[in-house]
Amino acid sequence: MNEHLAFFIREFAALEESQPDPGRYYQPRPFRNASVRFRANTSHNCARAKAIFSTSACPLHNITARAELVEKIGLNPFLYPAHLLPGCDLLSDSGTTTMTAEQWAQLLLGDEAYGSNEGYFELNEQIGTTFGPEWQQDPNETEQTIFIFHQGRAAEHALFSLLNRRLADAQTTPLRLAIKDLTDPTGVYRRMEQELHRLAQKRPNNPEPRYFIPSNGHFDTTEANIEENNILPLNLNCSEHRADDETFPFRGNINIAELTELLTTIPERIPLVYLTVTNNTGGGQPVAMANIKAVRELTAAKGIPFFLDACRFAENAWFIQQREPGYERKTVSEIVREIFQYVDGFHISLKKDGLVNIGGALLIRKNGLFPVRYPGFLENLTDYQILTEGHPTYGGLAGRDLKAIAEGLRTVVNPEYLAYRTAQVRRFGDRLTRYGIPIIRPPGGHAVYINVDRFFADTKTADPDYKGVALVALILVAGHRLCELGVYAFNLENIPPPRNNFVRAAIPRLTYEDQDLSATAEAIRVLYENRDRIPAAEVVFGTNLSLRHFKSRFRFKY
Ligand SMILES: Cc1ncc(COP(=O)(O)O)c(C=O)c1O
Repeated sequence: MNEHLAFFIREFAALEESQPDPGRYYQPRPFRNASVRFRANTSHNCARAKAIFSTSACPLHNITARAELVEKIGLNPFLYPAHLLPGCDLLSDSGTTTMTAEQWAQLLLGDEAYGSNEGYFELNEQIGTTFGPEWQQDPNETEQTIFIFHQGRAAEHALFSLLNRRLADAQTTPLRLAIKDLTDPTGVYRRMEQELHRLAQKRPNNPEPRYFIPSNGHFDTTEANIEENNILPLNLNCSEHRADDETFPFRGNINIAELTELLTTIPERIPLVYLTVTNNTGGGQPVAMANIKAVRELTAAKGIPFFLDACRFAENAWFIQQREPGYERKTVSEIVREIFQYVDGFHISLKKDGLVNIGGALLIRKNGLFPVRYPGFLENLTDYQILTEGHPTYGGLAGRDLKAIAEGLRTVVNPEYLAYRTAQVRRFGDRLTRYGIPIIRPPGGHAVYINVDRFFADTKTADPDYKGVALVALILVAGHRLCELGVYAFNLENIPPPRNNFVRAAIPRLTYEDQDLSATAEAIRVLYENRDRIPAAEVVFGTNLSLRHFKSRFRFKY
């Protein structure tokens, strides 16, 4: 080969292998845009927006008008009209995925028969391929084990409301009394007391919980569904996460010492044990296979079912392959099947790693511990599903949605996709770190979490200032949408740091380029450099509501 050509080949190869500083990227994307959507920025739409929201100008193009609108909607990002947002919409990675051309094609091929449509059989087969053949519904079985729902929380609602009915039959004392006289080597009972107190304040009319469900980190809807059914959700973050150990590769792990303590002393109070993969409220951090296996062993010894909240199973499997010794040679698909081999059931919002805009499911292992501990539950679930969502073979979704999910589950384990996805999140996080902005490190799989306590550490700030809320509102004025998941969302007032007090930037899948995200990073930089000027947010509506961050209104307090 010509020496000059050989030189350039070497140079280009070195570029591709390098880890450039954030903002420069040499590796090509593993996809190209097949369809784009322009913002509704025609003069007609802008005039309409101006008239509807009675702002001085169109909030899409005018920062002052955006500030007016942000104040009008009570600083609540959920209420801001998405089409008037010029920058990145990082409110959630849920249901915001850009679907592939193959998925859109599946939508056109949808079979809209009422029951047992083509999409159902395709999805069932794909479930077997993705999670392992034992998860597939045997069409010759009379008992249902796959329950399709329109989204994740509907599956959670089904599970916990039926569980509550089942537990109501057992006569037990309040949990508060059961933990009262226990010695507390890991400090977990003291935390439970605090949590029980917090729950009593939050839901003063509910009966006292008699059971609790431990997890590495319940998501807010999971937590609410559990609380609503008079069970205490208990988060057992691993000690490395609590210590903010940036070198620890699996900060999503559950705290095994605390779980062991609980399973040894009061197993009869634990109807289920959970792991959320990846751990969303704990920073989108992955859970190690070793941790999953340890939970399996501990729960199996006590006959307690072990479930996953599996929304981001593929991202979690990717991190296991990248970070956990012994898994570097396994494919992501093999790792996924190993994860699901250890559990008795899982629910999943397919709006994340299903790569679709709508869909969820609850799956129960037929030969697992759950049907043994709760006989007849599968039948109850089938009835519930027919009452609320529809026949089990479509569960609140159109036939075309089922096909798009099957296609999404095929795509999501593609290593090129996962490498690109996780690296993009990391680059965004690295850029914020370069600006000195405190985030959870290493960045998680789907989102970057700004640590609000550290962001405002050198300013005069108290919890009732809800600075996380104010920070989100000002980023919205800049034209980007993030979400407070901290003191306000989780009622953390009076719980001292370290705690999960975050503002989350969740990155939609296959939607933005680095250039878009860097605009968000620049806005956050301006706010960080002027953090002492960020005003407090005062609640004007909703302090005492449940799930209050979705519904509340605020104003800036200058
Ligand atoms: C970990 C986790 N569990 C459950 C849910 C609820 O899923 P859905 O939004 O589909 O109801 C979410 C949604 O963001 C989540 O992140």
